[in-house]
Amino acid sequence: MLLKNLRDEITATLARDPAARSRLEVVLCYPGFHALLYYRLAHSLWERGWYLSGRFVSHVGRMLTGIEIHPGARIGKRLFIDHGMGVVIGETAEIGDDCTLYHGVTLGGTRPSREQGGQKRHPTIGNDVIVGSGAQVLGPIRVGDGARIGAAAVVMKEVPDRATMVGNPARQVGRRSAPGEAPPVFEPYGISGEIPDPIARALNGLLDEVSTLRARLGELERVREPAPSDDGSASAPEPAPRRALRAQP
Ligand SMILES: CC(C)(COP(=O)(O)OP(=O)(O)OC[C@H]1O[C@@H](n2cnc3c(N)ncnc32)[C@H](O)[C@@H]1OP(=O)(O)O)[C@@H](O)C(=O)NCCC(=O)NCCS
Repeated sequence: MLLKNLRDEITATLARDPAARSRLEVVLCYPGFHALLYYRLAHSLWERGWYLSGRFVSHVGRMLTGIEIHPGARIGKRLFIDHGMGVVIGETAEIGDDCTLYHGVTLGGTRPSREQGGQKRHPTIGNDVIVGSGAQVLGPIRVGDGARIGAAAVVMKEVPDRATMVGNPARQVGRRSAPGEAPPVFEPYGISGEIPDPIARALNGLLDEVSTLRARLGELERVREPAPSDDGSASAPEPAPRRALRAQP
């Protein structure tokens, strides 16, 4: 089971980091992978009630990788921590499957310690979440499945599934649609306003042409209208000028 998890983590790293060239490179050169090895050992000690040993292994892992994962944290499968340095994952943090964290990410607490009555102090991250470099996700909030947290964002409120959050305080700037779900309101059918719709363009062209022709027709009708003579009777219509009859290019 442990070996399978490790194999999956190597595969996930290869899939998500374009710079990774081989499994051996991941094993030898990826601090995120090393940190997960230390975490798995520290967590199993923690689960057995060997708290000090768990903390010590976690501390050694932090010294060697620059990534601090509390042994009490709960981490799902195929987590990929890219670059890693400065990542802090708190004691009551939970991370789902297939997540990616970049360097400098904090999954931190905002509540009092366990002794002071705060049970859950750190965030719960859903499945398939990407947290950009330097982002701070603070407090016992939930970050929904498939969410994207922008680099340097500070998130302190719940994040809906598949939402994209940026800034400090973080605000939602987008939401990816799920298979079978209606497209998001702000981006109909997933096509932004800047992308030209070829059918709409063709129709607009035709409408322009029609209104130009209408204007020319009105002009022609005015030219062909008999001008009233001095005695009030209509004079014979003058031939329309040749140029006026020519079709518009
Ligand atoms: C948040 C993120 C996932 C959004 O990607 P996206 O869905 O393609 O969104 P867009 O690039 O279309 O940006 C949408 C809006 O958010 C803004 N935005 C994007 N990322 C931002 C960020 N980190 N901070 C502040 N604003 C950001 C854009 O300027 C844009 O604003 P506008 O609509 O006013 O022009 C991405 O920008 C990001 O930050 N990824 C993390 C990358 C990272 O950490 N890399 C480290 C590699 S070592």
